[in-house]
Amino acid sequence: MRSEDGRRADAPPVLLAPLSGVTDLHMRRIAQRLGASAVVSEMVAAAELARGDAESQVRAEGEGVEPHVVQLAGCAETPMAEAARIAVDNGADAIDINMGCPAKTVTGGEAGSALMRDLDHAARLLGAVRMAVAVPVTVKMRLGWDHASLNAPELARRAEDLGLNGVTVHGRTRQQFYKGRADWSAIRAVVAATRLPVIANGDVTSLDDARACLAASGAAGVMVGRAAVGRPWLVGEIAAGLAGRSVTPLSAEARAAAAAEHYEGLIALYGQAMGVRHARKHLAAYADAAGSGALSPADRRRLVTTSDPTEALALLRRAFLDPAGLEPDAAGTTIGEAA
Ligand SMILES: Cc1cc2nc3c(=O)[nH]c(=O)nc-3n(C[C@H](O)[C@H](O)[C@H](O)COP(=O)(O)O)c2cc1C
Repeated sequence: MRSEDGRRADAPPVLLAPLSGVTDLHMRRIAQRLGASAVVSEMVAAAELARGDAESQVRAEGEGVEPHVVQLAGCAETPMAEAARIAVDNGADAIDINMGCPAKTVTGGEAGSALMRDLDHAARLLGAVRMAVAVPVTVKMRLGWDHASLNAPELARRAEDLGLNGVTVHGRTRQQFYKGRADWSAIRAVVAATRLPVIANGDVTSLDDARACLAASGAAGVMVGRAAVGRPWLVGEIAAGLAGRSVTPLSAEARAAAAAEHYEGLIALYGQAMGVRHARKHLAAYADAAGSGALSPADRRRLVTTSDPTEALALLRRAFLDPAGLEPDAAGTTIGEAA
């Protein structure tokens, strides 16, 4: 449906995916301010949050993010319910439950995607969290454990019966980890199985991908993960494009400012020593997003290894803006439809 100004009134939401060790508070804040429909915290181990672990509290932090969605990972009902209550008491507007993580450290504890091997157990966890909090509860899953057990439709049906509010499906099985291509069309079986809104995820890196993913899956919206690392503005650009708005990509100056805000935010959040370490992967990704050749290999190395924030900020700025302060892409290009 289009409104009088030609924009879609029912534009599909575009979310920033939870990425452990990556989607910290500041990345989420920036992505949201630049137009992401919603952002999800990195996974928080429920048992650790329930016992008051300080690092888990930082991961679940959401000041200035709205809606503030906290993702919980775990395999036992009591800590999952307790962690959900704590997150909501601390301001979470919604809880997402991780049933997609393939990492052995998580599945070995029977959490994450391991829960797709035992849907009765998965359903007990969903029910426990549903009963514990009054805010919306969603679940993020894969297509199944392997191709012999593509049970995401069944898990989505159970989520609906238990009163959950939505599901996200990464179009790979657990056994695929991140190999091959996400199968967007396989998500269609989940859409057919439930009346809950389904968000499709996996390998969406552009507006064209988002359109193709929605067309193949029939999903209500898309979630973007790895492609947004170093480019937190991408999520909002895709959202605007799907809404039919013309989008002028952020100027190099604005991208440099966002990257600097992220870096400074991490140092404020974690303190200088730990903040600098947390920032390394982001700095590398921002340098890559700025374009090849923006920094010499030696300067790029220096950017990601220096523990001197002043030096890092100067190099970060140079990565986006040439030394004369000219914007490499001053001409700008537009994505999305003309308004
Ligand atoms: C480094 C990394 C960390 C991730 N952490 C989480 C997590 O905490 N919770 C979760 O549900 N999925 C996690 N995922 C999976 C992503 O949310 C997403 O489903 C996956 O990367 C596919 O989407 P993409 O192709 O857009 O990245 C992680 C993926 C990566 C690469």
